[in-house]
Amino acid sequence: MGEVGSALTSAKAILVTGGAGYIGAHVCEALAAAGYRPVTYDNLSTGRRRFVRWGPLVEGDVWDADKVRHTLIAHDISAVMHFAGSSVVPESVRAPLDYYRNNVGGLFGLLGGMREAGVNRLVFSSTCAVYGDPGDDPITEATPLAPVTPYGRSKLGCEQILSDASAAHGLNVIALRYFNASGASASGLIGEDRPVETHLIPRAMMALRGQIDDFAVHGTDYPTPDGTAVRDYVHVGDLAQGHLAALTQLLGDRRGFFACNLGAGRGHSVRQVLEAITNHSGLRLPDAAGARRAGDPPHLVSDITLARQALGFAPRQSDLPSIVASAWAWHSRLSAVRAFGGAARLSAFRTSAPPTWALPADGVPARHPTAHGPALQDADGDHADGRWG
Ligand SMILES: NC(=O)c1ccc[n+]([C@@H]2O[C@H](COP(=O)([O-])OP(=O)(O)OC[C@H]3O[C@@H](n4cnc5c(N)ncnc54)[C@H](O)[C@@H]3O)[C@@H](O)[C@H]2O)c1
Repeated sequence: MGEVGSALTSAKAILVTGGAGYIGAHVCEALAAAGYRPVTYDNLSTGRRRFVRWGPLVEGDVWDADKVRHTLIAHDISAVMHFAGSSVVPESVRAPLDYYRNNVGGLFGLLGGMREAGVNRLVFSSTCAVYGDPGDDPITEATPLAPVTPYGRSKLGCEQILSDASAAHGLNVIALRYFNASGASASGLIGEDRPVETHLIPRAMMALRGQIDDFAVHGTDYPTPDGTAVRDYVHVGDLAQGHLAALTQLLGDRRGFFACNLGAGRGHSVRQVLEAITNHSGLRLPDAAGARRAGDPPHLVSDITLARQALGFAPRQSDLPSIVASAWAWHSRLSAVRAFGGAARLSAFRTSAPPTWALPADGVPARHPTAHGPALQDADGDHADGRWG
């Protein structure tokens, strides 16, 4: 243990907010594989405790600046990756204040803690929703920023805050605008498993397994070749590699604020995705045409030239068959584990080796936020030096 411990102590620690969620967990896995020490900071509102496998979990809310500061110092954090947030587009249309509160308010808490702790490197989870409904052409970073939903506006607001903080306070930020994250890790340990699932591929697979009975294609009258919406599906493993590249730059000499797309650079319609699922599984969903969802544009496909040039981003698994195969394998495993109930589920996900990372050193009991307000601040009275700005 001593040898492992000393090796890990020399590894750079990265705070991953939202590390118990879908994309954050995949990035934690990739960080650990690349020799970093991921420290997850998550309130488990949509994340899964069992997804936190590659480093410690600090249960907390990003609004809680004091707890963020404490965690950054206690774990000797070099940089932050900020995934924590609310991201269901139709929900943001129904409950915009919750979205601004969690996404923009949460960013303020995080930045407050980072500033006090003197941590000034941040990779930020942004989204193609900042472009709104830009038409049929591939979306470049020069495409006007014109979000059409509260979710998109909350993320664009975050980008603008980060850009201003970068100019005024020396914060160094790479904002990555993801298109549709999809697929699952080859490890079989993590994948999409949210309390309420709204994404096409997991919902289709859940419907094929009889786990949901309200699957529908949202909109069949879009001005697209087959009438269904066209999206850019990027494998979550490729996204994770994009994050590692961004982190490497921030730990190197990248300064200021920089934003770029992360996508596959090609689009598929909903019908094409369902066809690919049928080809892989041998199962076909009955036709279920539903109404369009609020805030869903017809066509969102990335141009990833900038990511290729600036980050060396090169999607390797983002073809539809690879995405579908990895997601199907994950959902098969999840269904099998669920079929055995709670006890079997826990042991099925338990690692055989003891954790090699140190326990969270914050010593602060976790405090959950209420639905309408931030968690209580910790009052440990610590003072940090090395503040930025
Ligand atoms: N999934 C996509 O296709 C996609 C596309 C574009 C952008 N994004 C962005 O990527 C990020 C991660 O998305 P995801 O799909 O992994 O979502 P997710 O819901 O699986 O993960 C979000 C995680 O953040 C945590 N969280 C939420 N609010 C928090 C708070 N206030 N404090 C602490 N933890 C909190 C949740 O518990 C969860 O673990 C989000 O910011 C989202 O907007 C996702």
